[in-house]
Amino acid sequence: MVAAPPLRRSPEPVRSSSRNLSALGFRSQPKELPRTRLRIEGDVPTWLRGTLLRTGPGTFEAPSRDIEHWFMGLAMLVRLRIGDEPGVAEVSAKHLKSHARERAMRPNPFPRLRALAERIRPFLGERPTTDDGSVNVARIGDAMVAMTETTRRARFDPTTLEALGTLEHRDVLEGHLTTAHPHWDAKRGCHFNYMSRFGPKVVHVAYRMDAGRRHLLRELETDRPAYMHSFGATPNHLIFVEGPPFVQPLKLRFLTADFFSCLTWDGAAGTRIRAVHKDSGAVQTWHLDEPLFTFHTIDGRETGDSLELDLITYPDSSVLQELVLERLRSEGPPKAIGAVRRIRLPSHGPATIDGLDVPGLELPRIDPRRAGDSRMVYGVTNDLPGTFVDGLVKVDRAKGTHTPWRGDGLFPGEPIFVPDPRAASEDEGVVISLVLDGHRERSLFVVLDAKSFTERARIELPLFVPQGFHGEFFAD
Ligand SMILES: [Fe+2]
Repeated sequence: MVAAPPLRRSPEPVRSSSRNLSALGFRSQPKELPRTRLRIEGDVPTWLRGTLLRTGPGTFEAPSRDIEHWFMGLAMLVRLRIGDEPGVAEVSAKHLKSHARERAMRPNPFPRLRALAERIRPFLGERPTTDDGSVNVARIGDAMVAMTETTRRARFDPTTLEALGTLEHRDVLEGHLTTAHPHWDAKRGCHFNYMSRFGPKVVHVAYRMDAGRRHLLRELETDRPAYMHSFGATPNHLIFVEGPPFVQPLKLRFLTADFFSCLTWDGAAGTRIRAVHKDSGAVQTWHLDEPLFTFHTIDGRETGDSLELDLITYPDSSVLQELVLERLRSEGPPKAIGAVRRIRLPSHGPATIDGLDVPGLELPRIDPRRAGDSRMVYGVTNDLPGTFVDGLVKVDRAKGTHTPWRGDGLFPGEPIFVPDPRAASEDEGVVISLVLDGHRERSLFVVLDAKSFTERARIELPLFVPQGFHGEFFAD
């Protein structure tokens, strides 16, 4: 048995000299945090017992890799263990020891030669696809994985955060790009996801995954593969929103350094939407004249003979170019908050899209038990000029009401909703977010009461964690 480490108290605050306090979230964190017992300030419900795992970039400088974009930083995992001891949580943070990290951190005495080697590598048949899971985490069968948008998933130990190689699938499906947002289907007891396969024929391969084994659901042919960071789901359908930008497979094959330069915008193409039935694989197709760019869907439902999908859209994909580190560290960082909108897909008739009269948000989360019928969405938002995301918001999409949460110099990450297991109503539970404190130059977990959206507790870390993307709470 491992002895509990001593309890850490909050260190003294440090002031930042920058006017853009959120810029700290885009600086490398060279340190790691071993498993450390930290005091919970406030109270958390007694039913809250489990492990939150979360990933994001932690390193933005590497001798053998140029990192200029937020999405390209090397992964750092953060773990919060709560519920073992009253008033105390255990927190750790660790750089993910991926193969991509190992390559990137190699000493590089000859940078020009390395650049040349990177350029000729594809001609030698090598495809150094990254396994650096900086986007999301999931439990696939008995494996915990950190995911990016390639099909190589990094396994790690959920207690020690040690890397355990990559996840091997015992099947024949192949693909090159995928999402770090598989959908868990509680009724069917499986995940759904897709991957894009580039070759003489380009297809989106929709599949079902039972534990680590993937089963082909449907191949969707396309001559212009859309870049889709995520896709939608209703109780019985997967929904693919195929708007620009489009991936240029040849560029992707031969230009390994900058993924976003492999994308091309064509607004005149509009948006193709395809729904695939989760059991039969049957496909329905619609078209919207408007070109939709989206990172994240919120939730989908089935009403009568229509499908509906709520999602967050942008007028175009320029937000991708804006999320470069130089902009994010500047005094005028970009506003990466999209509009909440609803697509309606009738069985017989054209697709329509409407905006919902609620504030814009990003990194949306719902009560996973209400998937297919949810009202509440929790996300990050931005109100203050000169900062990146600076608050959390809870939105009731049925009533059109919203409740914000923010604090001076605080820059929150994705709000993860954890339901009260005894609860009847949708918003009974807590919301947990890893927040950057720009004044104190360190991070903290906040625990909000989901119903009132007010703070119940916080756990202060002895270091800052750069702004990350997604995580999951795994209840005991
Ligand atoms: Fe995402």
